[in-house]
Amino acid sequence: MEQSDKSIYNLRHDFSMASLDEKEVHLLPAMQFGLWMDQALEAKIGEAQAMVLSTVSTSGKPSARVLYLREYGDNNFAFFTNYQSRKSEELSNNQQACLTFFWPELERQIRIEGIVEKHSKEASDSYFYSRPHHSKIGAWSSPQSKILKNRKELDDLVTDFDKKYPTEDVPRPDFWGGYVLKANYYEFWQGRASRLHDRIVYTLQNGGSWKIERLAP
Ligand SMILES: Cc1cc2nc3c(=O)[nH]c(=O)nc-3n(C[C@H](O)[C@H](O)[C@H](O)COP(=O)(O)O)c2cc1C
Repeated sequence: MEQSDKSIYNLRHDFSMASLDEKEVHLLPAMQFGLWMDQALEAKIGEAQAMVLSTVSTSGKPSARVLYLREYGDNNFAFFTNYQSRKSEELSNNQQACLTFFWPELERQIRIEGIVEKHSKEASDSYFYSRPHHSKIGAWSSPQSKILKNRKELDDLVTDFDKKYPTEDVPRPDFWGGYVLKANYYEFWQGRASRLHDRIVYTLQNGGSWKIERLAP
């Protein structure tokens, strides 16, 4: 490939900050996630709550995008979006999805797989009404994932909805709300020297317990 920037060809980072052992991790992956998220927030990592959501179309074509995690606990991970977007279209046909977090400052990656369901109306209302006014107007104005003629088309929609809802009293659109990914698989990745990283996975068993294993890097 002729056009690659040669400077990235030899760009390497040797990970050396910490290690992860299957005998020392929490028995419950939700607890391990909570511990790592607390540490990421404490370390003031930029956008620690940002994660990649991967979905798959009916024809098996994958797609991925960054979203904000807004709630977590008990192996549930919630995010909010437009119910008519590409991701929502894919989730309505295939509930299987994957979340990926990458925290370079801690040399950590977390991968969480599971089944996605719509969040409750109450939770969607509660999050929507907590948002600033301009975000609420944004939710009404953006036909997310649809083709726009130009920027003006979007700006005009914002102007229209600003006029329609001039006060803080903006209702939640029924095409906007939350989803919850119910996790059945986690991988906690801690970077180690010479690419010999630690990878500890948790797999949900039929009885509801979690099996802990180590994967080769
Ligand atoms: C840091 C970051 C956070 C984002 N958070 C959200 C979010 O919480 N909800 C959302 O719908 N889109 C969010 N986006 C935009 C999405 O990445 C994406 O462009 C949008 O949801 C449309 O995706 P889709 O066409 O695949 O459905 C975020 C993007 C970035 C870079």
